[in-house]
Amino acid sequence: MPAISASAPGKVILFGEHAVVYGFPSIAVPVTQVRAKAIILANPLGKTGQVEIDAPDIDLHTSLSDLPGDHPFAILFSSLLDRLDIKAMPACQVRITSSIPVAAGLGSGAAVSVALGRAISSFLGHPMPDDQISDLAFQVEKKYHGNPSGVDNTVITYSQPVYYMRGQPFERLRLANSITVLIADSGIQSSTSRVVEDVRLAWQSDSKHYNQLFEIIGQITTQAREMIAKGRILELGALMVKNHQALKELGVSYPELDRLVEAATNAGASGAKLCGAGRGGNMIALVQPDNADRISKSLLSAGATRIIKTRIEPLSNLES
Ligand code: MEV
Repeated sequence: MPAISASAPGKVILFGEHAVVYGFPSIAVPVTQVRAKAIILANPLGKTGQVEIDAPDIDLHTSLSDLPGDHPFAILFSSLLDRLDIKAMPACQVRITSSIPVAAGLGSGAAVSVALGRAISSFLGHPMPDDQISDLAFQVEKKYHGNPSGVDNTVITYSQPVYYMRGQPFERLRLANSITVLIADSGIQSSTSRVVEDVRLAWQSDSKHYNQLFEIIGQITTQAREMIAKGRILELGALMVKNHQALKELGVSYPELDRLVEAATNAGASGAKLCGAGRGGNMIALVQPDNADRISKSLLSAGATRIIKTRIEPLSNLES
């Protein structure tokens, strides 16, 4: 039997992180320059249930049966077998690799779940459609991260720019023009679940103030969707700066992220903000193709450890 493989991209949130957990809209796009990949090879000599997992990027080399039940891979396997009503995995070797930085706001966990879910379901002869794969990744995030909004698994599964609100079918984002974004890594790892939990505790202790901030972020996101549809990039940049300010007030920024945002805007970016959960991880800068290199250099001088340039295209460009 040939090896079965599947992959999934990373993601960035352009607008609306954290507020999306509380029912406000968000805008997220896939980052195809980085990917998670899963390869499955049958082991005809092995016993049923014998699954060897090799994930060199996180230095994990183990049997599925030796993983604790709350490990994301264990949750994913058992949830997938339940859904397909299959009692045990045929013996196989699973290799998981990823070029998506871990704990950096680029959706590495959800991308691994999506790639692995696709590969296992195909290996079992029941390739799952996207809605089921997205839901499977969401269940893993829920058990592992507490209270995810669902934006990460959605944008990563469908690999297209989305306007997403919790509990509602996502919309494909309409763009008038392409948008170029630099994604700069602060080099600081940050746990999404911890930051989301801290925001929840802060919201519980002063819900009026935090609801106002979520409301402001929601309004920024709604306006951003309109500016993207109209191609008004300068105004979009100003909205990014406002969104960063609101995230700072939420308490999820970090001095390194603020420094990178300032460096990008000083070097001519139309706008910039942290992206993802914050307190580390990545930030994004909205740039023009002709000033992207200059702004990249400024970000590196300001301490960025890695830069990814990504271009988000209107649907018509992709179809032609
Ligand atoms: C994480 O990528 C984005 C957050 O809004 C959490 C979530 O939406 O689940 C911080």
